[in-house]
Amino acid sequence: MTNPDVVIFRNIELNDEASLLTLRNSPSNLEFFKNPRTVSSEDHARWFVSRLTDFRALQIVAVLSNQLIGIVFLVPLDDNSGSISINIDSKYQSQGIGQELLTRMMFRADSLRFSRIEALIHLSNTRSISLFERCGFVFEEKVSGFLVRYVRFTNQNTLR
Ligand SMILES: CC(C)(COP(=O)(O)OP(=O)(O)OC[C@H]1O[C@@H](n2cnc3c(N)ncnc32)[C@H](O)[C@@H]1OP(=O)(O)O)[C@@H](O)C(=O)NCCC(=O)NCCS
Repeated sequence: MTNPDVVIFRNIELNDEASLLTLRNSPSNLEFFKNPRTVSSEDHARWFVSRLTDFRALQIVAVLSNQLIGIVFLVPLDDNSGSISINIDSKYQSQGIGQELLTRMMFRADSLRFSRIEALIHLSNTRSISLFERCGFVFEEKVSGFLVRYVRFTNQNTLR
């Protein structure tokens, strides 16, 4: 069991590219992804550069003993709203890392004046639904046969 107190939470850095590709392509992440196909290294490189240059503040990674074990990131939808994604290495799930990352990102989103954050979640992803509900997200609508949208409006952090 990992003590969340020894995990470092920080912005992404240049040398995180390969670890993030591994995390994005892990079976536990692809299982609930909208598009379950593996991300190519070329597509990942483009995504990574844009995150690093245009959206540096919009992701937080969790690092344990120099190993990247989780990421949460926001994709802006307009000036005030964004879509959030989170992914924890399967070896480190159910130890509070997801809750810590999501809570930190909600504080950051508040400070960056996002007023609405949405999460598209697979209906059968009960662990994710429970995490988002604990962090103040509420069900908004079913968007397809297998995806639901949860939303959180600003200044709703209930955990701290
Ligand atoms: C969904 C996901 C992000 C959750 O992250 P996580 O780190 O496993 O979540 P947490 O550990 O914070 O919470 C999960 C469970 O562990 C429990 N938990 C929290 N802190 C804990 C701790 N310190 N020790 C033990 N258990 C703990 C929680 O109570 C929670 O229980 P519940 O599911 O019965 O409500 C993660 O499982 C994941 O990356 N899944 C694959 C990708 C994915 O589905 N992403 C979301 C797409 S929308």
